[in-house]
Amino acid sequence: MIFELILTSNKNRLINKKNSALVKFFHEKELSKKFNLFLKQEKIELNQNQAANFFAKKEELLFAFTHKGSPDLLIAKKHKDENLTNDLLRNTLSAIIIRLKNESIQNLEIDIPPYSDFKELFSSETNYFESALEGIYLGNYDFEIYKTEKSKKQKLNVNIMSEGKTISSDQLLNCQNKMKAVSFARDLVNEPASTLTPQELARRVKLNLKHNSLRIKILNKKELQNRKMNAILAVGAASENDPLLIELHYKPSGKLKRKIALVGKGVTYDSGGLSIKPTSSMLEMKGDMAGAAAVIGTIAAAAALKLPIEIIGVIPAVENMISGKSYKPGDIVKTASGKSIEVKDTDAEGRIILADALEYACKQKPDEIIDFATLTGACVVALGETTAAMFTKNDKLAQALEDSSKSSFERIWRMPFYSDYKEQLKSEMADISNLGTRWGGSITAAIFLEHFVDKKIPYVHLDIAGPALKHKFTSYTEKYDTGFGVRLMIDYLSNLA
Ligand code: BES
Ligand code: ZN
Ligand code: ZN
Repeated sequence: MIFELILTSNKNRLINKKNSALVKFFHEKELSKKFNLFLKQEKIELNQNQAANFFAKKEELLFAFTHKGSPDLLIAKKHKDENLTNDLLRNTLSAIIIRLKNESIQNLEIDIPPYSDFKELFSSETNYFESALEGIYLGNYDFEIYKTEKSKKQKLNVNIMSEGKTISSDQLLNCQNKMKAVSFARDLVNEPASTLTPQELARRVKLNLKHNSLRIKILNKKELQNRKMNAILAVGAASENDPLLIELHYKPSGKLKRKIALVGKGVTYDSGGLSIKPTSSMLEMKGDMAGAAAVIGTIAAAAALKLPIEIIGVIPAVENMISGKSYKPGDIVKTASGKSIEVKDTDAEGRIILADALEYACKQKPDEIIDFATLTGACVVALGETTAAMFTKNDKLAQALEDSSKSSFERIWRMPFYSDYKEQLKSEMADISNLGTRWGGSITAAIFLEHFVDKKIPYVHLDIAGPALKHKFTSYTEKYDTGFGVRLMIDYLSNLA
């Protein structure tokens, strides 16, 4: 169930309404002093056990139905300096929204602490508020369309303030627009692969991304053949569902700051091909188009927010399957750029389709190219599930993306991008092989991609294999694939605008 949210920030508090809850934050150090004072001020009575538990137990979140007074439900969060990050509000508020799905609360008042308490952790007060708003939307997501039992959608009024200080209506609206795009990206990634074929992906993009400044072009198999995009064609050859390429072009009127190409890996299912994966690894491979979803979500949000930046989205969409028409280990594929690839492993298919996509992006002469791809398991081994690997030779771009990573708490980590690793990709018969050695797999994958990018164009590759897929580190990534990349990119693009 997701709530029909009505989010406001004004001085009319909701705690005296029917079925209300109040969220309040306390620092562990001041808990004994402030908690009782707070109960007194608000005229709330809890039964003795409830408060005692909150003081004693490790559990940092208190959910207590009040004995007397309003609200009906008190939700208190206890935090401490040692484990403070700028994800505090996001993660806590998302957990609370998820938990409230089991209660019959209709009015939620959220009192967040003043920005001055957390100044060092955030770039601005706006950024601090943003983290809270995002948490509310991230928690209010589910993917339950395939469950037979449908729960009724409930209304939830949420009012949020920081010690009497309100959040601007502009920020509320912008954040809502951004988070709508994040939810759309999440829906695409969570959708099972037999539904979300390349064709269905293209259909949903056309259906959902309607905007005056946005043009969408779908190149079908025939057009891919005409353009000699044999890399995309090879990977998609075995599937009943033809490969295609989605091009999105967002060009608002007025003076534009920059022209950026975003490229997203759109493998709607990765069985591994003839180099087949074991079932356990295949399970999450409906999410192998999370790079595509990041690009689609970013462009949807950029258009809704009217960002003054030209963006070209390039998405090669294929299913990596098995049949008599499969591409095979030992094949040599001639890409659109004219460069040839020796296929040593059909499961390293992302880099193959991206070869054609990157070349296509370069032809549009963008000021910079950023690609998103669930490219390697090696990346998850290196950095864990929460963090994307960033590869670039451009320090300025790296810095700007790192700043946005801090603001959005979508973690990226810059990796070494040593050119001499290219030795590992030598092929006797083709220009490059698609497989390195066992070591540094996410780096050799990045080096492979760079081979297809015009050296004059600043380029960033983000391997999002870890953070794009669900993981247990935060309340909002626990159950469903995450839509990673959209919040990061919107922060980055907004800083340029
Ligand atoms: N889609 C996978 C990478 C992946 C793994 C994404 C886990 C998300 C979670 C990719 O196509 C792949 O299979 N890569 C191989 C590369 C290898 C054959 C060089 C891998 O990581 O094992
Ligand atoms: Zn693969
Ligand atoms: Zn893959």
